[in-house]
Amino acid sequence: MVTMNGKTALITGANSGLGKALALALAHEGWRVGLVARNAERGAAAMAEIAAATGNQELHLFVADLVEQTEIHRLAAEVNAQFAQLHLLINNAATAYPTRQLSSDGIECALAVNHLAPFLLTHLLLERLKASAPARIVTVGTRMNTALEFNDLQWERRRYRQQQAYGQSKLGNLHFTFELARRLDGSGVTANCVFPGVFRSNLGGTDGAQGWFWTLVAAVLGWALPTPEQAALRVLFVATHPLVGGISGTYFGNRKPLRAPAQALDVRANRQLWRASEMLTGILPLAPGPLRQLRP
Ligand SMILES: NC(=O)c1ccc[n+]([C@@H]2O[C@H](COP(=O)([O-])OP(=O)(O)OC[C@H]3O[C@@H](n4cnc5c(N)ncnc54)[C@H](OP(=O)(O)O)[C@@H]3O)[C@@H](O)[C@H]2O)c1
Repeated sequence: MVTMNGKTALITGANSGLGKALALALAHEGWRVGLVARNAERGAAAMAEIAAATGNQELHLFVADLVEQTEIHRLAAEVNAQFAQLHLLINNAATAYPTRQLSSDGIECALAVNHLAPFLLTHLLLERLKASAPARIVTVGTRMNTALEFNDLQWERRRYRQQQAYGQSKLGNLHFTFELARRLDGSGVTANCVFPGVFRSNLGGTDGAQGWFWTLVAAVLGWALPTPEQAALRVLFVATHPLVGGISGTYFGNRKPLRAPAQALDVRANRQLWRASEMLTGILPLAPGPLRQLRP
């Protein structure tokens, strides 16, 4: 039986890949873990596997499709009701779409799941995180970044390209993290982004059409790639290591800061996406901090 450490974490996309590996590792370390999955069966199967492997009795499944904002609101209400404290939020869920698709909110789906969902969920859990401080927000990013086209965030005027749409929405994770860190300065809640490396993945696969890029990566690199458990070590360092406790607004690679793409280092661009995201999610503005860089 695992010894509980009194800490609570919430992980999105916790039923497979990196998210599941993170949930398993935290459960082993005695965290109370909230697993967010969009499919109840897949979520329950992952939770049962983790419970059997760790003996951790404090695993909680939350079912929500993060492409829908009403689902994110319901998820946050359930988490706030269930968890009196929240010390760690890992925004991990992401996907890619081979064609331009719109959510029921009328938002392009890659932007909705990969950027707006972390943005909205984090806002809705922020009071719980602040009340539990010290607390950490870790968003899983990628190196497959493409500069955001601010005049066409939702691919209305350009031909939709899967990798670029994914890369833009995931660059949103960095814009978001840097601006969030400034706004949370002094709150006891840190915000960092981490690139987990390239690893074996099901990314985009469950949506029924993985697209040629990931199919090719899987076919060519296949089992030569690191496992999700190996990739999880990078994320766990940022999420739990005491050395990172006071660090915020940093983009991490393998236990070290990484240089972010130029557009994400532009504070005004961070703010531009923040304002657009407020409008697209309808959340109330969080007071802006000073216009300064926090990163090395
Ligand atoms: N794999 C890599 O080489 C790599 C490299 C750099 C960064 N990353 C990042 O690592 C993170 C994890 O990816 P992974 O490779 O572990 O992929 P994965 O195995 O496909 O995991 C992604 C998770 O997100 C969930 N998800 C997708 N769309 C969702 C939605 N609409 N609502 C709720 N959950 C949803 C998936 O649920 P389902 O199982 O239901 O689809 C799955 O649990 C992502 O942020 C990705 O960008 C991966």
